[in-house]
Amino acid sequence: MVRRPRCRGNSIVFGFHYRLERKSIWFVVAIVFVASIGGLVEIAPLFTIDQTVEKAPDMRVYTPLELAGRDIYTREGCYACHSQMIRTLRDEVERYGPYSLAVESQYDHPMLWGSKRTGPDLARIGGKYSDEWHVAHLDNPRHVVAKSIMPAYGWLKRTPLRTEDLGRRLRAQRKVGVPYTDAMIAQAAADALAQTEPDSPGAEGLLQRYGEATQVRAFDGIPGTLTEMDALVAYLQILGRLTDLAHQVEAGTRQ
Ligand code: HEC
Repeated sequence: MVRRPRCRGNSIVFGFHYRLERKSIWFVVAIVFVASIGGLVEIAPLFTIDQTVEKAPDMRVYTPLELAGRDIYTREGCYACHSQMIRTLRDEVERYGPYSLAVESQYDHPMLWGSKRTGPDLARIGGKYSDEWHVAHLDNPRHVVAKSIMPAYGWLKRTPLRTEDLGRRLRAQRKVGVPYTDAMIAQAAADALAQTEPDSPGAEGLLQRYGEATQVRAFDGIPGTLTEMDALVAYLQILGRLTDLAHQVEAGTRQ
């Protein structure tokens, strides 16, 4: 004789669950129902994405040099210690500046928000320090911050930047929605070099394509050489400065 296990649940909820577990079809239906609530909560906001992402007409795309720097940032795993997303909390805003807006990572594929902060958030690092500071810091963080535990990246200033595949990288970004033009793609390698040479003929074309506010200088401090350090510092110096919208929202001049 098969003995029926006794219902151990003595509350209404556990008693109900115990009976439900023994009706397999209804149990499956109940699982699907409960799981779909979680799915809906995640999917529903995507239908209003147009209203969620702010409009920032002044938002510009990364130049080829900055994009190359971004790739180095990813390659070296900087995101494992640094986030790029300032939360809407008072202590964050007071420490790092205006909180991050969705539109600011519109052209980040993949995004580098991160969730680990061994070091500080870098979403608004652009313009906080001079190029010289960044070069010295990346060369060996202990040169400028005595007790830093950040690893040294000294080889960056000795490694020439590969530019021959930059056009293809821009094209790949266009495939996922970044509005690079044909001219930007065709000129990618030349533009990367021009961004480190202010007086070169190429610099003018670069400013036409990416806007007058584009920063053009020898980021690694050594004119005439295009290194990985140039690219990474150019990228760090533009972080948080692709659009002014966050500062306008903070000042209350835009909602
Ligand atoms: C092992 C963790 C770790 C990694 C990996 C790391 N950092 Fe850091 N970073 C830190 C720590 C800790 C600090 C704070 C001390 C200092 O300023 O050196 C810091 C500070 C910084 C700062 C100064 C921030 C400020 O507001 O003062 C910058 C810029 C920076 N890191 C860039 C980078 C870049 C670029 C990379 C990748 C090439 C990188 N870090 C990789 C831990 C890390």
